Amino acid sequence: MERRSVLVPAPSDAWIPARSCLTHLECPECGARMDADRLQGLCPCGSPLLSRYDLARVRRTLTTKSLSARPKGMWRYAEVLPVRDPSRVVSLGEGGTPLREAPRLGRFLGLRRLLVKDETGNPTGSFKARGLSTAISRARELGVRRVALPSAGNAASALSAYAAAAGLEARVFLPRDVPSLFPSECRAFGAEVTLVDGFITDCGRALAEVKDREGWFDLSTLKEPYRLEGKKTMGYELAEAMEGRLPEAILYPTGGGTGLVGMWKAFEELEELGLCAGPRPRMISVQAEGCAPVVRAFETGAARAVPVEMPHTLAAGLRVPAAVGDRLMLRAIRESGGTALAVSDEEILHGTLLLARLEGIYGAPEDGAAVAGALRLRQRGFFEENTQAVLFLTGSGYKYQDVLERLAECSPVLEPFPGGLA
Ligand SMILES: Cc1ncc(COP(=O)(O)O)c(C=O)c1O
Repeated sequence: MERRSVLVPAPSDAWIPARSCLTHLECPECGARMDADRLQGLCPCGSPLLSRYDLARVRRTLTTKSLSARPKGMWRYAEVLPVRDPSRVVSLGEGGTPLREAPRLGRFLGLRRLLVKDETGNPTGSFKARGLSTAISRARELGVRRVALPSAGNAASALSAYAAAAGLEARVFLPRDVPSLFPSECRAFGAEVTLVDGFITDCGRALAEVKDREGWFDLSTLKEPYRLEGKKTMGYELAEAMEGRLPEAILYPTGGGTGLVGMWKAFEELEELGLCAGPRPRMISVQAEGCAPVVRAFETGAARAVPVEMPHTLAAGLRVPAAVGDRLMLRAIRESGGTALAVSDEEILHGTLLLARLEGIYGAPEDGAAVAGALRLRQRGFFEENTQAVLFLTGSGYKYQDVLERLAECSPVLEPFPGGLA
């Protein structure tokens, strides 16, 4: 009997459908142009660097027609991803996540056209897989052997998994009070785990102390250019699923903000490629009341955020007191006509519960924050009944056992939108 071939081959010329058209890296603040084929961190001026592509060349091969014949998953956009040699791609099946209607949740929130981009099914259970697939692939391509980052949990899981698949050494720095499944999972993938007393910023400092001496390449959020490129594929997928139109609003639970900045970059590229038209979505950052530096900066009109002294929230991924990409986030939110708002932990818990009970999705508390944010905006009149909003459900809830326990005794704090849509 004829044996069937392996369904998902290892990345190769056959599976990665096109060559990268990466040309250089560019600083969005001082305009410096940097060599993309050397390892780079931040621009000397302190800003994150952005990857630039020969979009005229991309335009010739990345078309609606060519996409229809490509494999599912984020590497279908290979021309606008940074890995030059297809055989260097490290993939565990990230991306290609569903964009779903959420009618029952929509009725509760008073939104007729609510959609959710469900990232919970990514490898290791969150959207962090996208960024770490590109960053690890590119780091390995450029000769890196040891990778490390500070994390609130999900990025550490993804780094550990992709490093294992790439045959790289990994080290992660996590706050000591992170849900205990995260360190266990990272250790299972073979990563070295350091628990730090403090917040993700303290974890970043702990990494900075050892990285040069021990030779770790730092993959902290936006401190290297390529995690952003993986995250931007969420914007490409949105445009493709909506046939070139974009939703009116995107709600994004924000910590370091790579997804928000990445999607904004994607929309800019997509317009230049002729793959989407019409107004861009309003970008809405949802943070937790106990840690809302972007919201405070947005409200005061500041260009940068003031670090939060004692950040606290049960949504671990939102406990980011200071983000290196704050300027880029604030710019995207303002340019888009979006907004930023903070929700309480009680609202986050209840939002998580609503998502589970009304849509059958057990999301991370960060997802609950997006749900709670949508209701607030509907109540404020920022959203109308027919506003087409997409909630980003960035991670699965299964690793947050403390939240799971609290959900059982969570009392409802979110009232359905008056009059509802039932
Ligand atoms: C589930 C989840 N959602 C959202 C975030 C925040 O993501 P970003 O740092 O891209 O803003 C995180 C970060 O850890 C997360 O784990």
